[in-house]
Amino acid sequence: MDYIFEEKRFFVVNILVIGSGGREHALSWKLSQSSKVDKVFTAPGNGGTENNVPINVNDFDSLVEFAKKNNCFTVVGPEAPLADGIVDMFAKSNLKIFGPSKDAAQLESSKIWAKNFMQRNGIPTARFQIFDDPKKAEDYIHSLDYNVVVKADGLAAGKGVIVCDSKDEAIAAIHTILTKKAFGDAGDRIIIEERIDGIEASYIALSDGNVAVPMASSQDHKRVFDGDNGPNTGGMGAYSPTPIITDDLAKTIQEKIINKTIDSMRKEGIEFKGFLYAGIMIRDNLPYVLEYNVRMGDPECQPITMRMDFDLYDYFAASVDGTLSSLPAPSWKRQYAVCIVLASEGYPESYPKNEEISGLDIVSDGAYVFHAGTKKENEKVLSSGGRVLGVTALGDSLSSAISNAYAMAEKISWPHKFCRTDIGKKGLSYL
Ligand code: AMP
Ligand code: GLY
Repeated sequence: MDYIFEEKRFFVVNILVIGSGGREHALSWKLSQSSKVDKVFTAPGNGGTENNVPINVNDFDSLVEFAKKNNCFTVVGPEAPLADGIVDMFAKSNLKIFGPSKDAAQLESSKIWAKNFMQRNGIPTARFQIFDDPKKAEDYIHSLDYNVVVKADGLAAGKGVIVCDSKDEAIAAIHTILTKKAFGDAGDRIIIEERIDGIEASYIALSDGNVAVPMASSQDHKRVFDGDNGPNTGGMGAYSPTPIITDDLAKTIQEKIINKTIDSMRKEGIEFKGFLYAGIMIRDNLPYVLEYNVRMGDPECQPITMRMDFDLYDYFAASVDGTLSSLPAPSWKRQYAVCIVLASEGYPESYPKNEEISGLDIVSDGAYVFHAGTKKENEKVLSSGGRVLGVTALGDSLSSAISNAYAMAEKISWPHKFCRTDIGKKGLSYL
């Protein structure tokens, strides 16, 4: 249904959210609350999203056809279709779509492109060198007197980064990526960069190519086990706002990193529209960009959307139309929000699937269970991925939001359910 209420002078639109994770469930949930939005479809969606459309995120032709037929404004969740040019393709068909073009998505799809971009535009980031020859990379390691991180250039599903504690580990990492091709073509070239030891936080803004408005600050928990131990994951939990990003620091990040990125992109002839996510390391009170993402974070999206006190559709539409400066600054609930990721034991490696989840009907005010790796079968909800649910709750303080989220998380169960027990704890020590 796409009609105009003349007297209200706004469109009622349908939305197509592309993706199937917790981030996409949170975006669908928030967008469905807009008075300007009629129906929210999700492709392919998960066991928690409504109006699922069985089209894969890389089947652009079918997605275009669906959006045309159903008069949809489209929102892209994950990075892969953005890197493959979904926004360019929709725009060619005169369809409205929120997200960066293929050229703009290079900030995430090529780490080398992003590092060179930061270097030539004076955006603070770790010192680095680029290699495609393992021998030269080894020689470089021997010449250094600091620890490094070795990164595959291309998209590697969040796994192409090896943080090294010694020269031996760095040399092993070089061979894992360049010689053994552990990440395929994504590892044809590598970046070796200085390891910055500090505190990590996520700073996400929304841009229309000209200006960028900050979203609320947040902090992810990337390692699989408590105390930041074990391998990196997509993220085991997040909270917002984070006291680690003080007002002063937020101002510096907004000016020296976010605005500078958007302006420099424009000067280089690339308009950046969509979410710009800077993964930040803070050392000696100075922010460094570890990586860019060209989309919302997952799970950061879940606590951030829970705190939104504005109509997200308005901001998405203004991003596409280039009219963001005409909107008021987004307003946020003063409460904290915490998202605990419930995963299946074994994640991020192999884990059991198709286990029935119980306890999902218990929902309280100011809390929501976002689905990620779930599917619905005969009215049962089954686990279907590594990160299964994102239990998200508000609270008047960070500690009450943590307790509220864990109280809900405890009520949900399946045989191989597993979660970190210290989400948000790092933030408490800064209050
Ligand atoms: P990335 O995919 O680039 O965000 O890297 C994954 C994780 O590796 C980050 O979230 C950090 O924890 C870590 N990391 C990446 N680059 C660095 C760096 N230069 N110094 C320290 N840790 C890093
Ligand atoms: N949670 C980290 C990311 O979305 O990349």
